[in-house]
Amino acid sequence: MLKVGFVGWRGMVGSVLMQRMIEDGDFSGIEPIFFTTSQAGQPGPDVGVDVPALKDAHDLEALKALDVIITCQGGDYTQAVYADLRGEGWKGYWIDAASTLRMADDATIVLDPVNRKVIDEQLARGARTFTGGNCTVSLMMMGLGGLFESDMVEWMTSMTYQAASGSGAKHMRELLNQMGTLRDSVATELADPGSAILDIDRQVTAAMRGGDFPVDNFGAPLAGSLLPWIDSKLDNGQSREEWKGSVETNKILGRQDNPIPIDGLCVRIGAMRSHSQAFTIKLKQDVPLDEIEERIATHNDWVKLIPNDKDATNDSLTPAAATGTLTVPVGRLRKLAMGGEYLSAFSVGDQLLWGAAEPLKRMLKILRE
Ligand code: HSE
Repeated sequence: MLKVGFVGWRGMVGSVLMQRMIEDGDFSGIEPIFFTTSQAGQPGPDVGVDVPALKDAHDLEALKALDVIITCQGGDYTQAVYADLRGEGWKGYWIDAASTLRMADDATIVLDPVNRKVIDEQLARGARTFTGGNCTVSLMMMGLGGLFESDMVEWMTSMTYQAASGSGAKHMRELLNQMGTLRDSVATELADPGSAILDIDRQVTAAMRGGDFPVDNFGAPLAGSLLPWIDSKLDNGQSREEWKGSVETNKILGRQDNPIPIDGLCVRIGAMRSHSQAFTIKLKQDVPLDEIEERIATHNDWVKLIPNDKDATNDSLTPAAATGTLTVPVGRLRKLAMGGEYLSAFSVGDQLLWGAAEPLKRMLKILRE
């Protein structure tokens, strides 16, 4: 039985991973061992099978006894532990939610409905290090996998609408506090249908700009606004999030030597945990729309084609509809005015499921095959 160590299982991504593994009975048939950075010796969680007391996540001897380590603890933990563990000769499988190792030559980015072939090739070559991809990248590829599989894409832009969860749990709370503060600032006026909307707007704007507005985590108002910058700045003017869109997509597809140009702007919006993206896709050829739809819809079991009409779109192609589900709706598919090779598309997906926990969960299953 594989001895599988879990680190960072109490955080947001870790909790979603635990929940999904319990739902699918993934704890039976493995020997799960839970690690902690602060509560070693305390009882492990209830996952339906016996587990030993929590072990210290920095105890290299305990980690070296494992066949597999799955970490959702974050990049600092990976930095602190991974190199030492490998340095001491540990040959187990490292499965990581953090971005730290993603672009390393010996790391494979896992998204098996899209790149099972790449994963199998890497396993056959003895690869031992696997990471989840950036959430927008994984969700984009789950939605548009059919186009990449048929090698239809010449280049693509992705304009994102990213949820608060991508920044972390505290940011989700802050978004809600910002929303509440705005509403509270005009509660009396809102209750009066006769009050003037421009007065309400002035008060809301003043609250948003006021010194008391809760912005400790985002650094700026998000509720009632948006933030067109995610992550750090690179020398070429891209944000790191925008850079990931291209390098990770091409690495997932195993085509670093022949990359598809992908670029765009990444924007934080006031959604809770589902990322959305608007795509402009330059196709290699003028392929009929019904063939494109067919390829997208049949690529995997989770993508769902949404008809390009208003009711279906507003009903099913939104964070409100996608959140908490593994479904990745894709819609607004139409040829753009620039010509038959130019396609628009819009996708939505839960940032914590396919965007984070699900690819890791599935990688563990692949190791058990
Ligand atoms: N970097 C992403 C975001 C989340 O900020 O939304 C993690 O992939």
